[in-house]
Amino acid sequence: MFVRSFAAAAAALLGLTFAVPQGASDGPASASSVVAAAAATTVPGVLSGAPAPDAAGPGGPRGRAARGRDPFRLGAPVAVAHRGASAYAPENTLEAVDYAERLGIDWVENDVQRTRDGELVVIHDDTLARTTDVETVFPGRSPWRVGDFTAAEIARLDAGSWFGAAYRGARVPTLDQYLRRIGFNQQRLLLEIKKPELYPGIEEDLLRVLDRAGWLDEHHVTHRLVVQSFSADSIRTVHRERPDLTTGFLGTPPVSQLRDYAAFTDRINPAYNTLSKEWVDAVHALRGPHGKRLDVNTWTVNNADLARRVRDQGVDGIISNTPDVVRDAVGGF
Ligand code: G3P
Ligand code: CA
Repeated sequence: MFVRSFAAAAAALLGLTFAVPQGASDGPASASSVVAAAAATTVPGVLSGAPAPDAAGPGGPRGRAARGRDPFRLGAPVAVAHRGASAYAPENTLEAVDYAERLGIDWVENDVQRTRDGELVVIHDDTLARTTDVETVFPGRSPWRVGDFTAAEIARLDAGSWFGAAYRGARVPTLDQYLRRIGFNQQRLLLEIKKPELYPGIEEDLLRVLDRAGWLDEHHVTHRLVVQSFSADSIRTVHRERPDLTTGFLGTPPVSQLRDYAAFTDRINPAYNTLSKEWVDAVHALRGPHGKRLDVNTWTVNNADLARRVRDQGVDGIISNTPDVVRDAVGGF
């Protein structure tokens, strides 16, 4: 409330008009205020919270100290919210994105798959069973594969109750809804194409959605978007179609193969337990397709000791369910 009042007063003084979602604050919000914030910005007819207007540009009224700079280039590793702030809110929901924003986390990671009718949606598993109430709503549709359901069917599902009663009613967002929310929050996106082998042509679909949402302009491509996958083929395709995009390969290729990856990807993103300082140094010794040093973003690091360990191994980014803990441990963004 104080933040909203202060912001409104400041805006009045400056003659500005802008929106501050309810529940916005500098610290972690309670579960109920997160839900309230999502509800407060819901557009009628859209089930998964609000595709809020991308009203404020870089350096806008809600900007934090890091805005306008690329924290991947500033030394201390950047903390990336894995599936949103997924230790605190249901993964891959708008609520998890908003939670990360409240923690002051710029970068969020997500997982993208495709529905039966061709809509891109944000969800990790290739079935809906673990993170929604699909078994109750559609009991006869085992094994509840994402690709067997339409977007309208998925929009009916509760993707929050499994995590906690306070999140009842959270939805599986479409990628379009997700991009709008990230845009509104002025966040940046590490977008994972999940299991592309299940969705032939998903790379082209993805680029179409990103383009339509305004995420392939120079600003977004330069500062706000990285596309990654466990599939080298998928990343090669993205790089071929849009050579200007920053890409990441998920995995730990042997040093002898790193040069091949450097032809099409800018980042190599390994599991933390596969890392060594020597391997990170070997990645850093190479330049990627944009002529810059290859970066390393590791996952999934959820405590301070581990965060300091991978920082000391030289990583550039740390993907975490508790990105606030990681950021505070390593002194990054
Ligand atoms: O971003 C890295 C990480 O998300 C890869 O693993 O299974 O959580 O998608 P997963
Ligand atoms: Ca992921």
